[in-house]
Amino acid sequence: MRANPLDDRLRLQRRTPPCTLLIFGANGDLTRRKLLPALYRLAAERRLASGFAVLGNSRTPMSDDEFRERMRDSVARYLEDADFDPTLWQEFARSLFYEPGDLADVSLYGRLAARLEEIDRTFRTARNVLFYLATAPSLYAEVVSRLAASGLNAGRGWRRAVIEKPFGRDLAEARELARLLHRAFPEEAIFRIDHYLGKETVQNILAFRFANGIFEPLWNRRYVDHVQITAAESIGVEGRGAFYQEVGALRDMIQNHLLQVMATVAMEPPAAFEPEAVRDERAKLLRSIRIPEEREVPSIAVAGQYGPARIGGEDVPGFRQERGVDPESQTETYAALALFVENWRWAGVPFYLRTGKRLPRRVTDIAIQFHAAPHALFPETSLAPAMRPNLLIIRIQPEEGISLRFLAKLPGSGMRLRPVLMDFDYGASFGLRAPTAYQTLLVDAMAGDATLFTRQDMVEASWAVVQPVLDVWSATRFDFPNYAAGTWGPPEADALLARRGHRWRNP
Ligand code: BG6
Repeated sequence: MRANPLDDRLRLQRRTPPCTLLIFGANGDLTRRKLLPALYRLAAERRLASGFAVLGNSRTPMSDDEFRERMRDSVARYLEDADFDPTLWQEFARSLFYEPGDLADVSLYGRLAARLEEIDRTFRTARNVLFYLATAPSLYAEVVSRLAASGLNAGRGWRRAVIEKPFGRDLAEARELARLLHRAFPEEAIFRIDHYLGKETVQNILAFRFANGIFEPLWNRRYVDHVQITAAESIGVEGRGAFYQEVGALRDMIQNHLLQVMATVAMEPPAAFEPEAVRDERAKLLRSIRIPEEREVPSIAVAGQYGPARIGGEDVPGFRQERGVDPESQTETYAALALFVENWRWAGVPFYLRTGKRLPRRVTDIAIQFHAAPHALFPETSLAPAMRPNLLIIRIQPEEGISLRFLAKLPGSGMRLRPVLMDFDYGASFGLRAPTAYQTLLVDAMAGDATLFTRQDMVEASWAVVQPVLDVWSATRFDFPNYAAGTWGPPEADALLARRGHRWRNP
């Protein structure tokens, strides 16, 4: 039965087309924690085609059965809020295969081709192949050039490649990576994952802004005072010390996730809900962010690194004490930026972005602070300390939802005002478990829908924004650590906002 094209554009009940998902890095963290649990959930929802199979590769020697066992353990462990059903697993595991081998070994690609043939004969995958690069980024170049040299990048059926961030370490590397990718795949076959774009709550920003008539008229410099985008994590670097030490908060979270969220909040309405139309608007917004000059960096950017602390009766190590981290490390585990968009809608409105590890709690949200009423009808003494009462909070995670704060009269005699909240809560309103970002994005990549993926021009535009900060920071000797684990970051981050008369809203 052919799907209704409109249902398909809106992704209603989208199922995967037949294909083999070939995962490089199949024994790694990402595969175990995110990809396989997402695929299992799709299997549970009957959204995988009967002609769907997974072929995993990594260096570890394993048989198909050993791979299945290992994945079973990971899926049972990382399913989060869903139940593990052993019978369903049995059925799903039949479509999992594994081919060990070193990515630099030419003969591996011949073996992979043979396995793909064999899988196609059994599962009827229409010879479609989705390559997933879940390896260390330093190996992308090797895989891509070997795929091209072996001819695996083309053939009957479609070929697409999904790659994970970071897309390079800076603007120059991002361009080099694109050049390499384009040797093997045309741009439309490349799916760059930024999993924040696949989060339900980030997608809902589009619905909130463009399906309602009442918010968009307020969505501009005339009504908005400033915007705060926070992605706070309470965890530290969780055994990824060596990786994180090379990356840092600015590259890990701001260059990609937070700038994409900012683009979604601030972009112009697309003419149609179609991949290129939506991506064009995001890209345009990213290109409108003013690129700071190096001399401005100290006044618009703050770096932090957590030091040891005692939290809830437990000793928590500082970043420099984590495994794999240089005891003198200059890597930031916290970053805050003040950015400005140079267009008519947003001129002069600060967008504050911040992220950090070992902050007091895990929370990602967007706070849109509106201006105070133009005329103060009520004397200041009647107001609570919040002088700009109107605040819209879009909670990305956890406790997904949207709240609007406004002033109301306190019951009783006299005119005393207090802020109150109007609240929308996903869980309570829909009572449904939302798909994980990886579920959504895997299905979209298989369906060839790039709406929620980043494009090379967006990647370059976001690198361009953070590049001056990276350059200045790499030449700076920081007095780290400058915040204790379990606190809201360094005091300089408060000063960053205070300079413009603002304060962080600590959720
Ligand atoms: C990843 C970063 O991209 O996003 C991690 O590399 C971070 O350091 C993670 O912890 C956060 O994702 P989420 O979905 O838990 O907010």
